[in-house]
Amino acid sequence: MELKVFKFLSLLLLATPSLAGRLAKKPQMGWNSWNTFKYAVDEKLIKSTAMRLVDTGLARLGYDYVNIDDGWQTYQRDSNGHQQANATKFPNGIKAVADYVHSLGLKLGIYSDAGIYDCGFYPGSHGYEELDASLYAQWDVDYLKYDNCGGFQMNTLSAQERFLRMSYALKNSGREIFYSLCEWGHQFRWLWADQFSESYRMSGDIHSAYRADKSGVCTTAYCLNTGYAGVSDLTMIRKMRELSPFQKPGAWADMDMLEIGTGTMTEYQEQTHFSFWAALKSPLIIGADINNISDSSLAILKNKDIISISQDDLGRAANYLPELSEEGEYQIWAGPLSSGRSRHVILVQNYGSKAINVTLPLASVSGLEKRADRTGLVIRDVWASVDSGKLGETIELKNVEVDQVKVLVLKKR
Ligand code: GAL
Repeated sequence: MELKVFKFLSLLLLATPSLAGRLAKKPQMGWNSWNTFKYAVDEKLIKSTAMRLVDTGLARLGYDYVNIDDGWQTYQRDSNGHQQANATKFPNGIKAVADYVHSLGLKLGIYSDAGIYDCGFYPGSHGYEELDASLYAQWDVDYLKYDNCGGFQMNTLSAQERFLRMSYALKNSGREIFYSLCEWGHQFRWLWADQFSESYRMSGDIHSAYRADKSGVCTTAYCLNTGYAGVSDLTMIRKMRELSPFQKPGAWADMDMLEIGTGTMTEYQEQTHFSFWAALKSPLIIGADINNISDSSLAILKNKDIISISQDDLGRAANYLPELSEEGEYQIWAGPLSSGRSRHVILVQNYGSKAINVTLPLASVSGLEKRADRTGLVIRDVWASVDSGKLGETIELKNVEVDQVKVLVLKKR
């Protein structure tokens, strides 16, 4: 990028105090079509999923965005330059789907891309930002997931500039539309995306696997990778070691859609997945087919204690505690909470190969160093649904099984 353009953009970013924020005081919750259905999205699927969110009680718990991912469009814009919904998949158009979703008290999301094409070679929004944003507003869309596939063709135009253009277009569209960036692994977006979006993907795509990454996946936040990385659950959690301190209301690092209920994980593994997405303040967007989901996976997605950790008023993520963890064996993360009686959350997760006993010295946990910090606190073991006695100097955990996570919420008595 030329120096002059860069300076102009930097000034623009600094001069833009709050384009983001109001819609994302808490990490967003909902459902997205991509993980399970890929390009096979249609009106029937979106409507039945919206209805199912209501029927299962998920909607009441906060899962209120119904997000159509890639594949809703046609390959050509119309003669006025407008993106068009595929008439076979959406015979009544997107507005009719939005009306239905709204009639259930839910919100509708849509997908586009900051390049000439998106990942499926449908028309991206680059150069059409104003037109597309105003079309989404006319359709009463509430959420835009904005991808970066076409970004590879843009050469010198930086991601910051392309994503900022759509941010302005949305602000000028006349409708409040949640702006969710999907710019995966490049340009360290946690350093800039908070200026103009509500959430931003911090990695290449997740895939339905607890431990196994696809080849070429990098395991830290700062190594560059591509959009189709095939990141496992454990690796996504690993990448957040560098990023959890960046989490803040109004600009959530997005660990990608949940794979709970997609059929590859055990109950302990799904509990681990959900606990970390919640405690690290990632958006909670279900990626499974909720019309065909096991009772056990549904119960995990509906765990109220875990959802409360995600939606806590403070909006601070748990941080990794390397001094208390054992690399390759178990990981300990902790962070503050401030809703109701909850004050702290501690996660102890066994990702090794044998059951473990863990002694946790509370004086080593930030915010609990002094005895006075711990006075009057009691422990709730979330997945065991057990409230236990008051806090001492240490917490003793016996026999934490392989893949299991212990989520301990420390509460005021
Ligand atoms: C990827 C994105 C996925 C999905 C896909 C659609 O770039 O990370 O979440 O949206 O594009 O083609």
